[in-house]
Amino acid sequence: MMLFGRKNRKSVAGEPNSAPREASRKRTAGKREGGPVVDVTAVPREDAPEPVRAGTPAVLECRGASFAYDGAANGAQVVRDLSFAVRKGEFVAVVGSNGAGKTTTSKLLNGLLKPLAGEVLVDGVPTAQLRTSELARRVGMLFQNPDRQICQNTVRDELAFSLRVTGVASDEADRRVDALVDEFGFDADAAPYLLSRGERQMLALASVIAAEPEVLILDEPTCGLDYRECMDVMARVKDLNKRGTTVVMITHDMEVAFDFARRVIAMADGRVVADGTPETVFRNAEAMRAASLVPPQMIELSIRLAQEPENGRAFAHVATAYEMVQVLGAAGFRKRKVS
Ligand SMILES: Nc1ncnc2c1ncn2[C@@H]1O[C@H](COP(=O)(O)OP(=O)(O)OP(=O)(O)O)[C@@H](O)[C@H]1O
Ligand SMILES: [Mg+2]
Repeated sequence: MMLFGRKNRKSVAGEPNSAPREASRKRTAGKREGGPVVDVTAVPREDAPEPVRAGTPAVLECRGASFAYDGAANGAQVVRDLSFAVRKGEFVAVVGSNGAGKTTTSKLLNGLLKPLAGEVLVDGVPTAQLRTSELARRVGMLFQNPDRQICQNTVRDELAFSLRVTGVASDEADRRVDALVDEFGFDADAAPYLLSRGERQMLALASVIAAEPEVLILDEPTCGLDYRECMDVMARVKDLNKRGTTVVMITHDMEVAFDFARRVIAMADGRVVADGTPETVFRNAEAMRAASLVPPQMIELSIRLAQEPENGRAFAHVATAYEMVQVLGAAGFRKRKVS
């Protein structure tokens, strides 16, 4: 086995391939003042979604939005003065500790809850002015627990359900259901409650996709899944985003947020404490502390190594295992065989 070797690396469907493409693997390795430095920022990460151009219209927007649940002590607001826009085609991860207000925010974004102050807009229209059926057609929502979503006796009926409630004609609904059964490899007659947790999550996701919403909000889509199931779900989500669906994904998994999202919004105590590229947000120590989050492993390691007096700065931008190997190689560590 080659330590740090990538040659025999098996890929899993949808696995985030955080190493750069072969073609773009030319890097600026070389000696600089203070020791060898590999400029890992010079190389785009493989499969990173294209940046969303400035001027792209906002499909979701919070303008000073606040919310409190009925009966909360002293009318305490659980989200406060939220202001951000999600543009068409973005892939945004929302992170934060338990109770930070992520699910409440997602319900404001899909219009299930209406803000008590400020505004939430879908395609530029305040949710307060949009009918529920119109909101459901535009913004698909995968809830935190798929079992709360699944309500039919067969996979086929489950897939058809959201189409029926959003008024899709039956011929078109049949066509979409057949296509999804085919694409996901479902047994159309199976009872949803006899499926595994991962299969039920896939079914819930497919039911949301069936309605072909322009925006997909996913509340912890990989929670409770094993690695392979997690990657299967994320492969679907990544593919949808590549085909133009805007994705807002709440997650407690910082690795998933880093590997798949282009932008991260960190929340603490009902407020946004950081909003930017995954790298910027995860390197923002103050925001990480405020949100009680630990950055993805490789970023955490790079932050620690960057504090080393010798060669420390070479590690300052390392964010993936591949980049770590490059920097270690430049610093004189050799690949070696282990038995
Ligand atoms: N239906 C409700 N009624 C009253 N309070 C609620 C309700 N739902 C959530 N809350 C409270 O609102 C706050 C924010 O909850 P929310 O579910 O939005 O957090 P979250 O960030 O999604 O947390 P988690 O990571 O645990 O899912 C919490 O204090 C929670 O107890
Ligand atoms: Mg939640």
